[in-house]
Amino acid sequence: MDAIHIRGGNALFGETKIQGSKNAVLPVMAAALLIEDVCIIENCPRILDVHHMQQLLESIGCRVSRTDRTLTIDTRNLSEDTMSGENVTGMRSSITLLGAMLGRMGEVTMAYPGGCVIGERPIDLHLNALRRMGVSIYEKEGFFTARVKELEGTVIRLPISSVGATENIILAAVKAKGVTVLQNAAKEPEIVTLCEFLREAGAVIEGIGGSVLIVQGGHKLHGIRFRIPADRIVAGTYLMSVLGAGGHIFLEDAPVAQMRSMLKAAEEMGAEIHVSREGLNVIADESRKAIPYLKTEVYPGFPTDMQSPLMAALSTARGVSVIEEAIFENRFRIVEQLKKMGACIEILGKRQARIEGVDSLLGCQVTAEELRGGAALVIAGCMALGETVIQNRHFIERGYEDICRDYRNLGVNIYTG
Ligand code: UD1
Repeated sequence: MDAIHIRGGNALFGETKIQGSKNAVLPVMAAALLIEDVCIIENCPRILDVHHMQQLLESIGCRVSRTDRTLTIDTRNLSEDTMSGENVTGMRSSITLLGAMLGRMGEVTMAYPGGCVIGERPIDLHLNALRRMGVSIYEKEGFFTARVKELEGTVIRLPISSVGATENIILAAVKAKGVTVLQNAAKEPEIVTLCEFLREAGAVIEGIGGSVLIVQGGHKLHGIRFRIPADRIVAGTYLMSVLGAGGHIFLEDAPVAQMRSMLKAAEEMGAEIHVSREGLNVIADESRKAIPYLKTEVYPGFPTDMQSPLMAALSTARGVSVIEEAIFENRFRIVEQLKKMGACIEILGKRQARIEGVDSLLGCQVTAEELRGGAALVIAGCMALGETVIQNRHFIERGYEDICRDYRNLGVNIYTG
């Protein structure tokens, strides 16, 4: 029952609307905790991770209600003064709440996120930065408690531009005494969204969108109405599908300004791209070209989340492509599944994959092991002749509101079962 079935092999035609961004909404929901007021957040995707975050906020007494895609979050009265227990320990994205919980409550107990199928995913950068802001951290049997009397602004230089660590530092800094200067901050659009949300609520943050952020802590925050931007990775997924399967699609609301590296790759493969205020038009014929070399990078480079979807699209491109994964060390798990479908892919060392385009993929039964790898298998299923059955649909549903609906809008014969 936890599967997606696709009868593939046809070009894609049609249009679909791009949902709100998963990676933007989660830190914004965490930030609402700092505001101690009512926030109305529009365009929240209806996905499992958002549901979990809602449950986490409710578990400490926040009142959260949803009407369609609008969440109303009232964080005025909390019933718990710490956050721990199964809700927080059981969910990886709860790490987004670390800085917010310290800012609001001064204490939180969490499980270590630990190993993840896409790589190590440690949180040392988060913890070291928070220690510099005066936080004490006690570790015990896979859990840690972070505690602080008063957060203190300071100068922090991240050794790696970590998205999650940047978010946690911003959240803590907004409530800290004095100024926090964050050097080598991540510049991903989701960081910009978080800063804009906080700034509209009354926080003072300079350098938004750059690699040095200056946060003046301690300003009074107030409730706001805020709209989550469209999801660049979801838009990128459908872009890769039309590159792989051919066709002509329109992606309404696609955040094209955030998708430059993906559009460059699409053009290199031979697609015709038309950008308008309403969204993105893509026309791709059967004769797509390989990309000789592409490396994933921090924003504005090509996103690691799009690496598996691109690999699927390149599996039938003319010529040889090489992809280097520079962000996470274990993000080629999809290769074995694509090979089952007839792709010709070789892993070179630990970080590179060599993809020799084949004439076509063949549908078969494959298994999703994580979110974006699972989405890449849906792309492969659209491209493949015959029926593809993708097991473990739940991984995909963590990030896609209704991937079958969206693909049906693009003319694909796809259903759950
Ligand atoms: C976020 C995104 C994820 C995306 C990733 C990179 C969310 C919910 N997730 O994940 O979709 O793939 O950015 O764009 O927004 N690292 C450390 N120590 C740390 C933290 C990170 O060594 O404390 C390393 C990681 O192992 C990785 C690199 O830094 O190699 C980048 O990770 P990071 O930017 O933190 O990714 P996430 O925030 O987990």
